[in-house]
Amino acid sequence: MHKRVLSGMRPTGRLHLGHYFGALRSWVELQNDCECYYMSADWHALTTDYADTSKVDENTLEMVADWITAGIDPAKSIIFRQSKILYHSELFLILSMITPLGWLQRCPTYKEQINEIKNKDLNNYGFLGYPVLQSADILLYKADIVPVGEDQLSHVEFTREIARRFNNFYGNTLIEPKEMLTKTARVLGLDGRKMSKSYGNSILLGENNDALENKVKNMFTDPLKIKKTDPGHPDGCIVFAFHEIFDKYPKKRKEECKAGTLGCVECKKQLLEMLVEFMRPLAERRKDLISDKAYLKKILEAGCKKAVETANKTMEEIHKALKF
Ligand code: TRP
Repeated sequence: MHKRVLSGMRPTGRLHLGHYFGALRSWVELQNDCECYYMSADWHALTTDYADTSKVDENTLEMVADWITAGIDPAKSIIFRQSKILYHSELFLILSMITPLGWLQRCPTYKEQINEIKNKDLNNYGFLGYPVLQSADILLYKADIVPVGEDQLSHVEFTREIARRFNNFYGNTLIEPKEMLTKTARVLGLDGRKMSKSYGNSILLGENNDALENKVKNMFTDPLKIKKTDPGHPDGCIVFAFHEIFDKYPKKRKEECKAGTLGCVECKKQLLEMLVEFMRPLAERRKDLISDKAYLKKILEAGCKKAVETANKTMEEIHKALKF
């Protein structure tokens, strides 16, 4: 039996290199040996952006276009939209009955976001219950593996705990999933903080050459390296952090920077070349995809048809376990 994989992202706009290297790349790899379910977590998008839902449809299509651009193959993977499979909301409700409030209140992502996000009122039940909904997504498909970025680890852990609790009460029904982290679990943004849309420090998938040039030009370099011959400190340098992702020989670069034989201007120029090269095919693919919305919608519909079959089977077992 092939292992089953489920992952998702919230449709909040275009994806960036953080999504690509942090998660999407492993989604793509898993397609070859696993049964993969990739979903647009549109209900999750509402946990924080409930006040304006006008962009969810459009963002979902943009995101699916980005996924396919990155190499997700609709012929191999099941791509669907969470809200179209009603079982997600049903399992969310059932799991909410057995979720201790303390687990939710202690969840690190909850604590962090409640403290950090000040421009939205997050004192709502849905936001507190975010990990319960995510658990429903994963458990509904009996996923063995959940490929995610570092920030989602606590949610996968939560999912295991809630599955264990369900199985203890009602008998062995749900599968405890394992997380899978990519090698580059954290991609830094242009300013050295984690790459994130809300920080405005990201490089988008399919970004055009002018934008790339501008972004690379404005990156900070090592403040102690003023002339080419000054010894550099690549470990704290954001340009080098990108080279570690794109350059085949980052060690050599590191030595040359430290030795004062490679200057920052040249180093940036080489980074820009690598970025442009990497991005060109992605930008082309993305442009074609985004101009064919009907195709993207068809992919989602076909994915939903398959996803609902799997979800339905699990739900029947759940009802049986509950003796309903
Ligand atoms: N919380 C995830 C994120 O913000 C998105 C998500 C929703 C998800 N449901 C999921 C990820 C199930 C993995 C599995 O990125």
